Amino acid sequence: MQLRWSHAVVYVRDMELMLDFYSQVLGFEITDRGPLGPSGGPEIVFLSQVATDHHQLAFLNTRQDDQASNSVNHFAFRVDSLGDVRQMITLLQTDGRADKLNPLTHGNAWSIYCNDPEGNGLEVFCDTPWHVQQPQARPWDTTLSDEALLNWTRETFEKEPGFADLSDFYQTRKAQLDTRKPDA
Ligand SMILES: [Fe+2]
Repeated sequence: MQLRWSHAVVYVRDMELMLDFYSQVLGFEITDRGPLGPSGGPEIVFLSQVATDHHQLAFLNTRQDDQASNSVNHFAFRVDSLGDVRQMITLLQTDGRADKLNPLTHGNAWSIYCNDPEGNGLEVFCDTPWHVQQPQARPWDTTLSDEALLNWTRETFEKEPGFADLSDFYQTRKAQLDTRKPDA
């Protein structure tokens, strides 16, 4: 058995605000919505942007408190390229509803962190070409060219433990997983 990440369900205060942000800025589509129970109850709205998961996120409009989100550190979404991360930074800046925008690299990822309109931590990242032992975090300069950022990232992390090509890391992990005993 292998558990693969599928979705999170989140309590929200302002459903329309959250739906607008997650659809207009992050690109999710609403896949279903309706009352939670057969005889009514709070509304749940499902969102996804992949064919393989009916929902990657679902919002339940039952949040009453006005506190910051206090159990979730962040949700993270992988994109295909550094260009996509840069595009997301522009989208978030233009939209203006997410705050605490924070470009960080963990050596193995270039990320933009922020808080969504209700204070949930959010990360959008792409892989770098490398693995490096975690945790690691350094701010990255979004004004650097792709090539300059690539060079800076390698120079910054290549002396750190575990630094390796990402494909080597995947191979090592696959070998480790393959040695796990199959289910009885
Ligand atoms: Fe993360």
